[in-house]
Amino acid sequence: MSDLPLLRVSAMTKFYGSRVGCKDVSFELWPGEVLAVVGESGSGKTTLLNAISTRLPPTSGTVEYRMRDGQLRDLYRMGEAERRFLMRTDWGFVHQNPADGLRMTVSAGANVGERLMAIGERHYGNIRDTASEWLGRVEIETDRIDDQPRDFSGGMRQRLQIARNLVTGPRLVFMDEPTGGLDVSVQARLLDLVRGLVNDLGLSAIVVTHDLAVARLLSHRMMVMKGGVVVEHGLTDRVLDDPREPYTQLLVSSILQV
Ligand SMILES: Nc1ncnc2c1ncn2[C@@H]1O[C@H](COP(=O)(O)OP(=O)(O)OP(=O)(O)O)[C@@H](O)[C@H]1O
Ligand SMILES: [Mg+2]
Repeated sequence: MSDLPLLRVSAMTKFYGSRVGCKDVSFELWPGEVLAVVGESGSGKTTLLNAISTRLPPTSGTVEYRMRDGQLRDLYRMGEAERRFLMRTDWGFVHQNPADGLRMTVSAGANVGERLMAIGERHYGNIRDTASEWLGRVEIETDRIDDQPRDFSGGMRQRLQIARNLVTGPRLVFMDEPTGGLDVSVQARLLDLVRGLVNDLGLSAIVVTHDLAVARLLSHRMMVMKGGVVVEHGLTDRVLDDPREPYTQLLVSSILQV
């Protein structure tokens, strides 16, 4: 066991002009840990996720990441090429809208295989075999390997996006509303699948969701955001069963009334 976190976020702040996106958010993420970020629409969840994953430069604050060699590195001080390589190999990013994370008009197999090629795999047979294996893991019939995601259902697209992200063996996965926009029964199956994969692969993940049931099922810890700041942070079961902040109490009780 290492005594360094995988990720250390310090005083992360993003302003859009004078409007607060997120403000002064700090936390650490440990290997194998899943953190849920919850809060109402406009509370800053996506802003925070994008700032941490270097997709949106923050106004101030730092993100440090423990590289495979054990060194903790400041992501915004890293060269662009190194950061891009890290994003392709060590990280995954599952978008709420699969069209943002997939290439809709190339085959399912190519969507997965492309990521392998990006890390240097050149052997066509190996790429196809691995892609096929990953389609199976996310419960897509392997005879759909040559079909394009535009011909897939919403749930299948989301599962394909997950395969594309996990095929390179990332250590950290960011997910923004991974089950948003799906039918309830499809959501449940997808959540089960994600939970199984995260456990099997020992992944660390940051999952943004407005759905407390998703947080309950997937995460060990959770942060509740409101107006760009974190109002409560703790073990998921504790926060949901015994919320301390009035705002969290409101969130939890309004869900229970549904
Ligand atoms: N590109 C932008 N330009 C200006 N303001 C923005 C931009 N993106 C987000 N904001 C503002 O920042 C705040 C946080 O937005 P953000 O998208 O991070 O919220 P969210 O919690 O992800 O909401 P949702 O659940 O609706 O996705 C909001 O007030 C929003 O209007
Ligand atoms: Mg959002």
